[in-house]
Amino acid sequence: MSQQPRYFIKTYGCQMNERDSEIMAGQLDQMGYQPAASDRDADLIVINTCAVRGSAEEHAFGYIGQLRQLKDERPGMTLAVAGCMAQEAGTIAWLKKHAPQVDLVFGTHNMHQLPEMLDRAAESDEMVVDVWQSAGEVVEHLPSRRKDGVRAFVNIIYGCDKFCTYCIVPFTRGRERSREMEPIIEEVRALADEGYQDITVLGQNVNSYGHDLEPARDLADLLVELEKVDGVRWLRYTTPHPRDFSQKLIDAIADSQKITRHVHLPVQAGSNPILKRMNRKYTKEAYLDLIERVKLKIPDASLTTDIIVGFPGETEADFEETLDVVRRVRYDSAFTFIYSARERTPAARWEGRDPVPNQVKKDRLNRLMALQYQISLEANEQLVGKQELVLVEGVSKKNDRVWACRTHNNKVVLIDRDPAEDLIDRFVPVRITGAKTFYLTGQQAGRPVSPPSPRRRVELPMV
Ligand code: 5AD
Ligand code: SF4
Repeated sequence: MSQQPRYFIKTYGCQMNERDSEIMAGQLDQMGYQPAASDRDADLIVINTCAVRGSAEEHAFGYIGQLRQLKDERPGMTLAVAGCMAQEAGTIAWLKKHAPQVDLVFGTHNMHQLPEMLDRAAESDEMVVDVWQSAGEVVEHLPSRRKDGVRAFVNIIYGCDKFCTYCIVPFTRGRERSREMEPIIEEVRALADEGYQDITVLGQNVNSYGHDLEPARDLADLLVELEKVDGVRWLRYTTPHPRDFSQKLIDAIADSQKITRHVHLPVQAGSNPILKRMNRKYTKEAYLDLIERVKLKIPDASLTTDIIVGFPGETEADFEETLDVVRRVRYDSAFTFIYSARERTPAARWEGRDPVPNQVKKDRLNRLMALQYQISLEANEQLVGKQELVLVEGVSKKNDRVWACRTHNNKVVLIDRDPAEDLIDRFVPVRITGAKTFYLTGQQAGRPVSPPSPRRRVELPMV
């Protein structure tokens, strides 16, 4: 090929998937590929899939279906399906039956072998399927192409050992494996040297970090070390599990200047019998006690959560317990989901026997969201008049006279924009002047506290 081949990666799902896509992009760069502006310009399309809920899978299946036409027009191009869905036997069967246009299928555990798998796919007339059932050793020093800007994700632990009964993650991502602390610190130092200032350490169960290392380590130990890296301004971690959220971690956050005062603690449900059947390993009382300890030590923390409604067998009284938790904690915001049965999980069998009717699920979701929206608005109103440091993310999609910014605890703040000054990727002090359910409004209250980013982003965020 005279021109360099181009790739396009479509990513569904969580930050772990986004990070995997950055590593795939890094490998493709090394192979001499270039990023394509869109799927229509690409010689290789990789679809990095998410299996956490049925809706995510349907989007990916829909997209794979659409690509059939593209492949018919340009039979020389390569289509690859990767990620969590590829770990499911049902997906492979579906692809073989309905998507013969796909050339390569690989899972979450062998992504680091992308170059070699592409070679095999090029030589084969059949769909090449290479999915490992379990993970090998943690692989260090993989190339990666990170997003431009000042935010970077860093993996610290892979997999999940918790086996919540609704969750497919332990099956698609395997058992927990922590990275050693040294290479993580080196990676963060290198990122800070490149100008990244907003670092998020990642794990499906991020606060299980280090229990499998020799000697054992924990997330608080790691964050305290990362805090020492010059140039890092904000340090985040996602996603923690309430069961492993230790007092040591609470104290480390309280004492830190850099760990953001945003505590995301997925509660999933409020009723003890449901929590037990979800295998969450805590009670409503233990969870509320944890929240009290967080509020005591970090009074300015913003609290967020994940909640599932309509778990098999959830009664009205069970659901009321969930509402009760929301009223007591008063989260800043919550991600709310309708239960979705996942292949191979224990709860999927219970869903067959004792499902909550669809209409009841939807009704509960609406009631939960109405309550949370009211609380989110009231929480945002408390911030009016306060001064906050925000990261300017880009021009608002709805109004080009407005900058869309984010606070350290992930709240969107819209401020007036002077078109003569480029503030993208800068940290700027603002005064909060107004509150809505999903965002705040504010005014710039001083000069940016950070220099222009060496890697200014080209694309604008979606707000
Ligand atoms: N159905 C609905 N929501 C789910 N989640 C995980 N598995 C399911 C499922 N089977 C939600 C949980 C988790 C978030 C990432 O996705 O709330 O915290
Ligand atoms: Fe899934 Fe539970 Fe592990 Fe979270 S902790 S990834 S919900 S099994």
